[in-house]
Amino acid sequence: MKSVGTIDEMRHVIAGVRAKGKSISFVPTMGALHEGHLTLIDEAKRVADSVVMSIFVNPLQFGPSEDFDRYPRTLDDDAKLASKRGVDFLFTPTREDMYPEHAPVVIVHPGSVGKEWEGAVRPRHFEGVLTVVAKLFHIIMPDVAVFGQKDLQQAAAVKAMVRDLNFPVGILVAPTVREDDGLAMSSRNRYLSPKDRELGLILSKALFAMRDAFGRGERRASALEATGWRMLERVAGLTPRYLAAVNADTFQRVNNVRHGDAAVGAVRVGETRLIDNIIF
Ligand code: PAJ
Repeated sequence: MKSVGTIDEMRHVIAGVRAKGKSISFVPTMGALHEGHLTLIDEAKRVADSVVMSIFVNPLQFGPSEDFDRYPRTLDDDAKLASKRGVDFLFTPTREDMYPEHAPVVIVHPGSVGKEWEGAVRPRHFEGVLTVVAKLFHIIMPDVAVFGQKDLQQAAAVKAMVRDLNFPVGILVAPTVREDDGLAMSSRNRYLSPKDRELGLILSKALFAMRDAFGRGERRASALEATGWRMLERVAGLTPRYLAAVNADTFQRVNNVRHGDAAVGAVRVGETRLIDNIIF
C-alpha cells in the first residue's frame, strides 16, 4: 500500500493508474477503522483493479458542539488494517490542503434528501458530507465509490448528488456490519461505557422489532413506529431522537411501508449519539 499525503500527489498517482488502463474504486472514511469499513474495501476490490481509501476527519460536517476535536484518530493502526485488507493507495490529506481558505465558499446542498432525520438533528451536516465527497470524487475520479448502509441517509444523499450533478461515478452501498449482539459497528462505539453500550443496543433491537412486525404483515408506518418507540421509551438513560419509516431513496416518511423502504433511528446515550437503520 502506498500512502499519499497531498492532493497534488494523489492526482499524479491516479494519472499513473489510469495510464495503465486500470479501473479505480474508492472508499471514503474518517478513519478509526473497524470491520464495517474493512468490508467496504472487500467490495471495492471486487469491482475494480485499484482501491483508494481516504482518511480525512472532515471539519465541515461537524456542528460547533459536536465531537470534531475528540473524534478518534488512529492513523497508524488504520494504515496497517487498510494495507492488510488490500487497499492500494491510502489518501490522508491535511485540513489545510483540503480547505486552504478555511471553509469553502461554494458548497453542495443536499436538498430534500438531507432535510429530515440526521439532517434535522445535525443542521448543515450533509452539506459538509456532500461537499467533501464531491471534492474527493474530483481528486480521485473513481469509477465506483463504496458507502455503508450504516449511514443510509448519507448514501441516499450521495446518490442524489451523483444523479443530479452528473458525476461519472457508480455508487455501491454495502450492508451494515454488526457486533455479535446486533450493535451496528461505529467509530463512535469506543466512546461507550459497558452500561451505555447496553443501552445503545436497544436502538438496534427496536429496529429489528419493527422489521419483525413488518414480516408478520404489519404495513402501517404508525404501527411499526409505535412498536419501536415503545422499546426506546421504556429505558432510562437513553434519549430517542427520531425513529421513522422512510423511503430509502428520498428519505421522505411513508405512511404505508413497502419492501425496500427503511426504518431509521437515532438515540443519545450519555454524550454519544448513535444511529442505525434496517431495510424492510
Ligand atoms: P465514516 O463514519 O468513517 O464512515 C466511512 C464509511 O464506512 C461510510 O460509508 C459508512 O457508512 C461506512 N460504515 C461505517 N460503519 C459501518 C458499518 N458498521 N457497516 C458498514 N459500513 C459502515 O461516513 C463517513 O465516514 C463520512 O461522512 C465520509 C463519507 C467519509 C465523508 O466525510
